[in-house]
Amino acid sequence: MNPFDYRGGILHAEGVAIPGLAEAVGTPFYCYSTAALERQYRLYAEAFAGTDALICYSLKGNSNQAVIATFARLGAGADVVSEGELARALAAGVPAAKIVFSGVGKTREEMAAAVKAGIRQFNVESEPELARLNEVALGANRKVDIAIRVNPDVDANTHAKITTGKAENKFGVPWSRAREAYARAARMPGLRVVGVDVHIGSQIVDLAPFETAFRKVAGLVHELRADGHDITGIDLGGGLGIAYEDEEAPPSPGDYADMARRVLGNLGCSYTMEPGRSLVGNAGILVSRVIYVKRGEAKTFVILDAAMNDLIRPSLYDAHHGVIPVTEPADNSARERVDFVGPVCESGDILGLDRLAPPLQAGDLVAILSAGAYGAVMASTYNSRPLIPETLVSGEKFAVVRPRPPIEALIAADRLPPWLAP
Ligand code: LLP
Repeated sequence: MNPFDYRGGILHAEGVAIPGLAEAVGTPFYCYSTAALERQYRLYAEAFAGTDALICYSLKGNSNQAVIATFARLGAGADVVSEGELARALAAGVPAAKIVFSGVGKTREEMAAAVKAGIRQFNVESEPELARLNEVALGANRKVDIAIRVNPDVDANTHAKITTGKAENKFGVPWSRAREAYARAARMPGLRVVGVDVHIGSQIVDLAPFETAFRKVAGLVHELRADGHDITGIDLGGGLGIAYEDEEAPPSPGDYADMARRVLGNLGCSYTMEPGRSLVGNAGILVSRVIYVKRGEAKTFVILDAAMNDLIRPSLYDAHHGVIPVTEPADNSARERVDFVGPVCESGDILGLDRLAPPLQAGDLVAILSAGAYGAVMASTYNSRPLIPETLVSGEKFAVVRPRPPIEALIAADRLPPWLAP
């Protein structure tokens, strides 16, 4: 079942018609499907059933409280990378004992907040960070569980801006220094070394790079145990990539779990994983209205009321998102090659380049697909465009899970210095 489908010629999110939702909240807006969120989580949970595994939803993909709470109710943990995400996870009901803290630049304050909350594990990314965390833990009279994120120098075959496991990337402890880093950590009284963490990138649609990385990790676990460390857990990092267009479906969580068990199963370790995109990406769309259709000399531009500030992925990564009309076109309707663009004053303000689209006119609604991950969370107010609303659908019901702020709120956030005050 596709949560976003035409019913009677009109695009629906589950049982909710998109035009009615657009009427209620105004355009542009994000719309998420509860059924799709739950289905994706369950695919991971079922794939790892019978294994000691915790699925820590990576909040960076979509940190709306309603989305986090949807996963928390299913038993998910959380992967956080800032004090803000930590606070969000706790506020949405994720128990501290299910929260892992990743990221290359955790500050003392952020560490202190996470130590105080009593989180499950810190994924430490450098030797200076080990020393800092040890100090913070001792200052709080605590001993905290850590994994060291190792950089396996594996090519994930993904976009250069989202590959993280190559030696030239800033992430993780270099492979050649891993054992030394573990030895240092073991000497620090505020730290308890419990695991190995690896994350090689995002939007990975092939199991091979994961398998290469996991094999290296398995070797490392043997070495670390021989060095005397009690390694009981492996953090597998982020999840699988998703299909953004009609490409071949990426591997399923089931395929991924089978591979992980085959490569790592004999180590007797528990698993933590941090999927983001694959849990939320195809559970969300961005709904937008056509403002103008402009026939240029070289191209036809469909100018939408959504823009790069609302969904930056096409501009930033040349990412492809499907764009479909909310009113289902007839099979035999004419098609025209168009660029879907936004109103922002940049040529890079693109939402869909060179698409074959049915006839569209001002006032029509379109849906930009696969926008649930790294959409709303990466939005800005560039061009003084307020952040757009987020809605969540469940069956026939919908709720606004983040309202559109008034423009006055943007202005009110600034302060005039005394010499400019009226
Ligand atoms: N864990 C760590 C340590 C990560 O750095 C990431 C993503 C994840 C988990 C979640 O990975 P996922 O399951 O979503 O692939 N803004 C980019 C994606 C950046 C991903 C950064 N790290 C995009 O829009 O494609």
